[in-house]
Amino acid sequence: MTETLGYCEELRPEACGFVLFGATGDLAARKIIPALFGLCEKKLAPSNFYILLAARTPLDRPALETRLWEILAGAGLAPAPAAFAAFLGRLEYLRADYASPSFFSALSARLAALDAARGIKNKRLFYLATPPEAFGPITASLKDRGLIADPADCSCWSRLIIEKPYGSSLENALALDAGLKDSPAEKQVYRIDHFTGKETVQNVLALRAANRVFDATWNREFVDHVQITALEELGVEGRAAFFEKTGLARDMMSHLLQLAAITAMDLPDTFRDADFRTEKRKFFESIRPLYKDEALGRAVRGQYAGYRSEPGVAPGSAAETFLAFRFFVDNDRWRGVPFYVRAGKKAGPKKTSIDIVYRKPERGVFSRMDIGWPNVFSFAIQPGAAVTFSLIGKHPGPRLCFAPGSMTLEYRGEPGAAAPSDYERLLLEAMAGDQTLFLSSFETRFLWEFLSPLLAAWAGKPGDCPLHPYADGTPGPAAAAELIKKDGRSWL
Ligand SMILES: NC(=O)c1ccc[n+]([C@@H]2O[C@H](COP(=O)([O-])OP(=O)(O)OC[C@H]3O[C@@H](n4cnc5c(N)ncnc54)[C@H](OP(=O)(O)O)[C@@H]3O)[C@@H](O)[C@H]2O)c1
Repeated sequence: MTETLGYCEELRPEACGFVLFGATGDLAARKIIPALFGLCEKKLAPSNFYILLAARTPLDRPALETRLWEILAGAGLAPAPAAFAAFLGRLEYLRADYASPSFFSALSARLAALDAARGIKNKRLFYLATPPEAFGPITASLKDRGLIADPADCSCWSRLIIEKPYGSSLENALALDAGLKDSPAEKQVYRIDHFTGKETVQNVLALRAANRVFDATWNREFVDHVQITALEELGVEGRAAFFEKTGLARDMMSHLLQLAAITAMDLPDTFRDADFRTEKRKFFESIRPLYKDEALGRAVRGQYAGYRSEPGVAPGSAAETFLAFRFFVDNDRWRGVPFYVRAGKKAGPKKTSIDIVYRKPERGVFSRMDIGWPNVFSFAIQPGAAVTFSLIGKHPGPRLCFAPGSMTLEYRGEPGAAAPSDYERLLLEAMAGDQTLFLSSFETRFLWEFLSPLLAAWAGKPGDCPLHPYADGTPGPAAAAELIKKDGRSWL
């Protein structure tokens, strides 16, 4: 894929400012600051663009610059001196005290000065990279200071970006959402799930929309089942405190449901946010809830053997590090087609993928022999992006023999222009005001409604839904293999 066809959209955001709260944190260092640098270096960010980093930790300019260099080097970017200097030229640091009205006054004055110096008309993104408890108070203070611009006033805008897990239960997720809604309108809230920004994930819909042969077979008549996999080689990597509170299901469910929706929703009329969200919502509304028997009997939770020896993990911790379950979608396209989902830490080589497994032939010679699954449409998301379609064909030679093969879509972008990373793409979309890749308020509510029966089942009698141990580096407990085997299938 090297040349583009007639349809080619390019996001060119207008001049704006970017405020990052919680700028000293883990997410800022690993994802957001490298993405901001990447957007500037690739000249995807607006040429007239400034960044204001804010956090409670005091940092003078030399300490800030050293820290930023270390962050970028740590992210493998090793910036050239000129590119680093240009990045620093766009950037300031403001020490935060979120409880103090004078901090928000100082912030307001600083933003007004930065806008005036660059001729920017009150167009700003506020990224809340703080723990969720701080979302409500920061948003309320921004609103009080008049920093959340009215979306009806088209000469200015303010957008708020927040990160999953959007709470820890249905109740507090709703409270968090209500707190946010008191201030900005839904149009101004950008809820990130970075899986939606990945190249292969976006290609699932693109391939279906552009190639009728795929969309015409993307249904229960042709598809036997769908598998969604998000296995990681790494464990909790120093984030035990977070993980002990959250567990894998709360941490990953948003990603897993987004992958399912993008795979299986009906095609929207356009890739614009309103059309996209409408179809996604219809898909979520068709998912059959995980009723108690399914949650107890068909969902598997596990914990890797070495988890309780990780620093910061309680000796008898019941936090799950693995999850597998099956669900169904009650609509005309998917009725009766099982979706098998698994995710885990220290669960073998890293593998994030979507596999559409087509039915076996119903007639002819191959219907009478075991040929496995001849056609699997595989979207490998990480590591390495690839799309392959497996099939069976004639083996070359004088005899009529058959052999498995595959067709692979090569992922080569434009020469010299590296594709944006997931976070770069999402920040760019937020700057451009397109919510297509972001979660709606409805989706966060659905996420918790879907997850709650599972969490309730796990919180019941321990014997009902055991926490299965699995050896570090293996793809989950034996019970996960059993879950799909009961249906005569196996994980790919
Ligand atoms: N890290 C990840 O990989 C990741 C992945 C997905 C989602 N998230 C979400 O992204 C957000 C940030 O994650 P993170 O891992 O970077 O969090 P973090 O390291 O715990 O916190 C980020 C920064 O927020 C500030 N902070 C801490 N407690 C605060 C409080 N009570 N009020 C205001 N500021 C506070 C701290 O900076 P100062 O003390 O200097 O102000 C801290 O460096 C969280 O909502 C998290 O759930 C993180």
